[in-house]
Amino acid sequence: MKILVTGGAGFIGSHTVVELTSEGHEVVILDNLSNASRKVLKRLSEITGKQIPFYEADIRDRAALTDIFRKERPEAVIHFAGLKAVGESVRLPWEYYENNIGGTLALLDVMRSNDCRNIIFSSSATVYGDPAEIPITEACPKGTCTNPYGWTKSMLEQILTDMQKADPAWNTVILRYFNPIGAHKSGRIGENPGGIPNNLMPYITQVAVGRLEKLHVFGDDYDTPDGTGVRDYIHVVDLAKGHVKALKKLAPGSGLSIYNLGTGIGYSVLDIVRNFEEATGISIPYVIDARRPGDIAACYASAKKAKDELGWEAENGIREMCEDAWRWQSANPNGYEED
Ligand code: NAD
Ligand code: WQD
Repeated sequence: MKILVTGGAGFIGSHTVVELTSEGHEVVILDNLSNASRKVLKRLSEITGKQIPFYEADIRDRAALTDIFRKERPEAVIHFAGLKAVGESVRLPWEYYENNIGGTLALLDVMRSNDCRNIIFSSSATVYGDPAEIPITEACPKGTCTNPYGWTKSMLEQILTDMQKADPAWNTVILRYFNPIGAHKSGRIGENPGGIPNNLMPYITQVAVGRLEKLHVFGDDYDTPDGTGVRDYIHVVDLAKGHVKALKKLAPGSGLSIYNLGTGIGYSVLDIVRNFEEATGISIPYVIDARRPGDIAACYASAKKAKDELGWEAENGIREMCEDAWRWQSANPNGYEED
C-alpha cells in the first residue's frame, strides 16, 4: 500500500517507516522538521536500503498538502505529526491547539478532497485521564485531561469519530499509545528530545551518558508497590509494528476502531532504574523529589483487543527496551548532532 506518513522524521514515525518498508509498503514522509532532524532521512535509507521520498512541509499548509496528494496519490495516511510536550502545552495552549487540531483539520480536508479516507491516528493513553479502572480497556471512559496536549488528542478522537459517522467511507483507526521507549536495534535511529528531556527513559539515558547529573524521581508516596509512578512502557519497534498490523483495519467498510498499544505490564520508576542498571551495568544516581503536577499513580493497558483483532502483541520486554535505548544513546550521545 502507498502510505503518507506525517511526522515520519520523528521518534515513532521514523521507526514505523522502517517497519512499513520492510513489509513491502511504499512510504512517503512529510514532516516540517519542527522536532526532528533531516539526518534521520539518511539513517532511514541506511537501514532500509531505500531512498524514501521526503517532503519538508507543514500539515497546516493546505496548498503544500494538496500538491503532495496530487503527486503521490497515497491510499492511506498514518498521522503522527503534532506537538507532544505536556509542560510546553500548558505554557503554549494556543500553539498546541492550532498545530495539532488546526493541522489535523487541514489534513482531513485535503484527504477527502483527494478521495483518500483511510487514516491511522496517533492518540495517547492520556485521553483516559486518571483511569476509572486498570488495566485500562478501550471501553474505559475517556477522562479529564490535565493539560492542553492531552485535550488535543481527546478532541481529535472526537473529530475523527464524528467525521466517520457522517461519512462512512472513512476507515479510521485510533491507536492509543502507552509509554514508548527503546530504539531500533541498529542504534542508528532513536528518541532525540530537544533540551532537558521531559520523559523518564531519555532522562535516564542522558544521566547514563553523563549529560545530566542525576535522575529526579517525581514522588514516592503514590499508592503503588514502591510508591513511585507505574506506567506501561512499550518498545518503539513493537509500537511501530502495531501500525503495520492496523493497516488491515483500513479495508473498505471497516468503520472506526480504537486500540490500546501497550504491553499490559506496569513498571514503577524505580523498576525502570533497576532494569536499566542491570541491562547496562551503569549506575543511575537519583533523588526523590515532589510529585510532578498532573501525574497519575498508575496506568497500564489491557492489550487484549489489539491481540484479538489485529493479531498484534508486544514482543520486547523491559530488558530489550533498556538495552536498545542505551545502544542508541551511547552511540549518539548528542542525538543526531553527531554527523
Ligand atoms: P516526535 O515529536 O518525535 O514526532 C512528531 C513529528 O511531527 C516531528 O518530527 C515533528 O517535526 C512533526 N511535526 C509537528 N508538527 C508538525 C506540523 N504542523 N507539520 C508537519 N510535521 C509536524 O513525537 P513522537 O514521540 O514520534 O510522537 C508521534 C505522535 O505520537 C505524536 O502525535 C504524539 O503526540 C503521539 N504520541 C506520542 C507518545 C510518546 O510518548 N512519544 C505517546 C502517545 C502519543
Ligand atoms: C513516566 C513516569 C513520572 C521523568 C507522558 C505524557 C503522555 C504520553 C507519554 C504523549 C512518571 C516519572 C518522569 C523524570 C520521573 N505522551 N518521571 N522523573 O508522564 O507517563 O506520559 O509521555 O502522548 O501523554 O504525559 O511519561 O516518561 O514523563 O513519566 O520520576 O524525570 O516517570 O512521574 O511516573 P508519562 P513520563
